[in-house]
Amino acid sequence: MCAIEVSPVISTERLVLRGPVRSDAADIGRLANDFNVAGMTCDLPHPYDAGEAEAFCERAMAQDWRREARFAIEHRSFGVVGVLGLTTGANGRPQLGYWLGRPFWNRGYATEAVRGALKWVKRDWRRNLVEAGHFADNPASGQVLCKAGFLYTGDVALKDSRARGAKVPTRMMVWLA
Ligand SMILES: CC(C)(COP(=O)(O)OP(=O)(O)OC[C@H]1O[C@@H](n2cnc3c(N)ncnc32)[C@H](O)[C@@H]1OP(=O)(O)O)[C@@H](O)C(=O)NCCC(=O)NCCS
Repeated sequence: MCAIEVSPVISTERLVLRGPVRSDAADIGRLANDFNVAGMTCDLPHPYDAGEAEAFCERAMAQDWRREARFAIEHRSFGVVGVLGLTTGANGRPQLGYWLGRPFWNRGYATEAVRGALKWVKRDWRRNLVEAGHFADNPASGQVLCKAGFLYTGDVALKDSRARGAKVPTRMMVWLA
């Protein structure tokens, strides 16, 4: 039996995390087309054009929720503010990534989204370990992960940043349910 058959929805105090749909592409494309956002992620290219956002939404709509869970982060008043994704890494373990559009930084949204996602991971996705990493020059993300309960493993990996076109030292972290 398939454990997760429909697109899950995670509700927090101010946010709803739900499967991306085609009509999210305009917001996602506008917010992600910012080097300050893309340059702190591994996967986002810069510039990030409308076609990239549409392709992201199409892929997310077809995702197998048992293996990957990409959510649009929607604020109850402001609409889509970012994206959070759980994917399966080459090592078979869940990997967490996220970004928020710059107008929405420093209001606690990322911490709220990650905490909500981790509750879902434990209760519904039934995983008890999640890995994450943040670029060494991105302490805000480290703070988000620490507040959500991640611990530093002590490993520093060199990870590709598509937007920077370079490998960036990345501080690895782990969360255990
Ligand atoms: C990193 C990011 C997700 C944080 O989102 P956010 O909603 O602003 O995060 P929160 O408000 O929940 O928490 C941010 C924390 O970082 C702290 N912070 C912000 N800038 C900081 C800095 N330069 N140095 C240290 N801490 C910093 C804030 O004070 C806050 O901590 P506090 O609540 O203990 O005061 C957002 O900046 C972002 O999307 N950046 C670009 C993409 C990215 O970095 N993605 C993550 C890749 S690992």
